[in-house]
Amino acid sequence: MTLAVLRAAPRAESQQKGVDAQGHAWWQHAVFYEIYPRSFADSNNDGVGDLKGITSKLDYLKELGVNAIWITPCFPSPQVDFGYDVSDYEAIDPMYGTMEDFDKLVAEGKQRDIRVILDFVVNHTSDQHKWFIDSKSSKTAEHRDWYIWRDGKGPGQPPNNWLSTFGLSAWKLDPKTGQYYYHYFYPEQPDLNWRNPAVEKAMLDVTRFWYKRGVAGFRLDAVDTLYEDPNLTDNPVLPGKDKFGRPNMNEKYNKKLPEVHDAMRKLRTTADEYGSVLIGETWTSNVEQLKDYYGTKNDELQMPMDLMMTGFKGLSADEYRKHIAAVNAAGHWPVYVITNHDIVRSYTRYADGAHNDDIAKMMAALYLTLRGSAIMYYGEEIGMENNDPKSKDDVQDPIGKLGWPLEKGRDGERTPMQWNHTANAGFSVAKPWLPVPTSASTHNVADEMKDPDSVLSFYRKLLALRHTEAALLDGDYVSLNEENPNVLTYVRRYKGEAILVILNMSAAVQKVRFDLSPAGFVEPKMEVLLTSFHKQLKGMFMELPMEPYSVFIAKITK
Ligand code: GLC
Repeated sequence: MTLAVLRAAPRAESQQKGVDAQGHAWWQHAVFYEIYPRSFADSNNDGVGDLKGITSKLDYLKELGVNAIWITPCFPSPQVDFGYDVSDYEAIDPMYGTMEDFDKLVAEGKQRDIRVILDFVVNHTSDQHKWFIDSKSSKTAEHRDWYIWRDGKGPGQPPNNWLSTFGLSAWKLDPKTGQYYYHYFYPEQPDLNWRNPAVEKAMLDVTRFWYKRGVAGFRLDAVDTLYEDPNLTDNPVLPGKDKFGRPNMNEKYNKKLPEVHDAMRKLRTTADEYGSVLIGETWTSNVEQLKDYYGTKNDELQMPMDLMMTGFKGLSADEYRKHIAAVNAAGHWPVYVITNHDIVRSYTRYADGAHNDDIAKMMAALYLTLRGSAIMYYGEEIGMENNDPKSKDDVQDPIGKLGWPLEKGRDGERTPMQWNHTANAGFSVAKPWLPVPTSASTHNVADEMKDPDSVLSFYRKLLALRHTEAALLDGDYVSLNEENPNVLTYVRRYKGEAILVILNMSAAVQKVRFDLSPAGFVEPKMEVLLTSFHKQLKGMFMELPMEPYSVFIAKITK
């Protein structure tokens, strides 16, 4: 048996106001729940979800154990990228309701201790934003320098070789002024020029506008791409091509520039004025890069998302163990994320066809019992699966239209929330903007509430444990049984007690040793808190027979 002990790191974050008795800020113990507003609940039955719909489901979220909702962009937008192309940062898109509806949502949330986090699209606006409309009107327009305009290298040649993540060149020629503008995403999403102090000021003011309305923080969209090399140096071209036939590139000159951190610090200073939290969409390849986003003085993002697990292929206990150890060793408060609106749903990614629900429970137990803040994605708690478009004509997401059939787009993970087994899964009376999968007949809130073995019932019990067991909130992390490549075993220890978590990440029964002495428990008392076993455990064990993809959680006392 090998042992790795990683203590809960001292946290400078806890110096700030709004901390609990243990010195934790509210967001450290919070469970965040991401809502894609088009798809959550449709109150006016037009086929698209809305804010009143979200408000009507706050009791459900409260009972589930959610402390904060992150709503993906609900601001006025031409919806080219379904809200990630904002044409006015300080209003609500009429499709989702009114500012009054928003205020009501915040107030109703407050009554239930559910905070509201908005999604701030910091890298770019819509091409329909008044800033861009002015910017493109002439070379001398007031807002010209709010975006990135450059001459081409020559006739028909963009300024450099940078590629848009959603297409070919990241430059679009505007015939009126004969210059190109830069867009890392769609051409309808021109990049803001954060080097211009007026842009920075305007954007910081946007955050103040919402903080004053009671917003508890922001999820910052696409922060990696905020700055570009002002000399527009070509990115190094790497060997090979991507699946669309584009040259592979090292995006050295338009991604993760050091200046990004200056912007993060400024956004953080403003957030601190209001005791708010910043969550980052931080795609990183390793823990070192992730560490940078906390800031060398803990003065950047409190919650940079660790999205690295979403890239793991298959389920390997060893791979998870190593990653968790590296994150803990880095010393910050972790934010493990396993799914969101841009990636195939976790249920579908891990499903093996035979143990789908068990795997969903196992993954839930993993990220909800580790140290750190938790972020869920709507529908994950009921085992929602991807429902990808069947033909190009069905696709809504422009990425899917551009890349079909190699890339089907992100519609599949954005389908309507499945509330019950009636028509349209109870989301709307009207035809929903995206079709619900057939699995809605079994995987829906109403039916799963009644079934004690459902994914939802498991989530509810797990979240209740997470909120009540001090060791799950504040405990350190001790990795056990490291020689077993199929099973992840750890204890979370806090003041003489601990929670033991055993996760079988394989399709075979695994016998797991119960020796907790390396974690300081020689003859412990054990109380089983939650399992996902199908058969009841009987008798005493020296070795615990873990069913395929099962979860065992117990409380340990001396
Ligand atoms: C982020 C969002 C994604 C969006 C992109 C451009 O990655 O999560 O949905 O398309 O930014 O704003």
